[in-house]
Amino acid sequence: MQAIKVGQGVHWVGAIDWDLKNFHGYQTQRGTSYNSYLIQDEKTVLIDAVKEPLFDQLLQRISTLIDPSKIDYIVSNHVEMDHTGSLPKLLKLAPNAKIITSTKGEKGLAQHFKHDWNLMVVKSGDTLNIGKRTLTFVHTPMVHWPDNMVTYMAENSGTDIASILFSNDAFGQHIASTQRFDDELGWDVVKEEAGKYYANIVFPFGGQVTRALEALKPLKIDLICPSHGLIWRSHIDSILKEYIKWSSGQVEERAVIVYDSMWGSTTKMAKALGKGLENNGVPVIFANLGTTHISDVMSLLLTAKYILVGSPTLNNGMLPTVAGFLTYMKGLKPKNRVGLAFGSYGWGGQSIGEIENILKDMGWNMPLPGMKMNYIPDHEELENMTDKVKELVNASAKGE
Ligand code: FEO
Repeated sequence: MQAIKVGQGVHWVGAIDWDLKNFHGYQTQRGTSYNSYLIQDEKTVLIDAVKEPLFDQLLQRISTLIDPSKIDYIVSNHVEMDHTGSLPKLLKLAPNAKIITSTKGEKGLAQHFKHDWNLMVVKSGDTLNIGKRTLTFVHTPMVHWPDNMVTYMAENSGTDIASILFSNDAFGQHIASTQRFDDELGWDVVKEEAGKYYANIVFPFGGQVTRALEALKPLKIDLICPSHGLIWRSHIDSILKEYIKWSSGQVEERAVIVYDSMWGSTTKMAKALGKGLENNGVPVIFANLGTTHISDVMSLLLTAKYILVGSPTLNNGMLPTVAGFLTYMKGLKPKNRVGLAFGSYGWGGQSIGEIENILKDMGWNMPLPGMKMNYIPDHEELENMTDKVKELVNASAKGE
């Protein structure tokens, strides 16, 4: 197992997790990596560790460069176990290493590990000189845990030492790859996975992300080294622009219709609504929850203005697939959307009201009342639904 050179005196020494297909509910079909970086200067610094079961990969890669006992500092940018789980094993081999953590990280590490480790607790803006390089620690609370911070290594002019942002989860993507740089895999794939990561992990914290981006704005950045996936080398401006868009809640004039069906009537309604959106110039994506994972639906709706949610009524409520999706989406808090509830029913019809209430509670614009159809909608009823979509689009354009 090889360490991969990232910059002068900086190597990637992390672990690749080809088997991870589910990250607490988020379907990670491309696997992931846990990225650790070793900086060798007068002091040797490891930025973040890896998940405990993959410790051997970390150890082997570090050992190609140095004896692990020579590590002076381990920066723990984030307490979550995918970046700290192997610390107890690592510290047995690097007993002199001091762990650098944020104030909230200090508490988090204590609660996770009940340890007696040697800690150096840093405030936001604190620096550490390690020889030719200086590290600056910037707290980024709630991106995406209270303890999060990023570590910035400034360039050293007149040398080959580049400026690197070790961003931890921010700008990450769940991709297992032996290639380490964005341009090696290509913008389309890396951006798609960065978007999925944002939609499923970072989405609720747009305000905090905006503040973190402001704090990083004055910094010259040659490389962004996240703790998952590929390193940003060639598309730094592009991914920063995407993060600005995602965190500010900007939406595009397009729609996602999310639904499930029992006997096909709610599917017919979804298609009729889709036809109406298309007729009004709004591109549509259909997400059938019977075949589409909720974490993929979140990617689809990351910047969609219109989100239509449909379920037939089953046992006086909505289908469990739709309820699960709404629970998941509610926690991730997409804002500034135009919503519509719809569904078929036999006698009760409660699902439509339930969906509507959830979307209203999220603060969405709901210009039209929920649409319900008894048993099987006929051609005329479906055509009426299609026509009605014009009111949805017009009302949202007027901000009603
Ligand atoms: Fe990759 Fe929040 O841990």
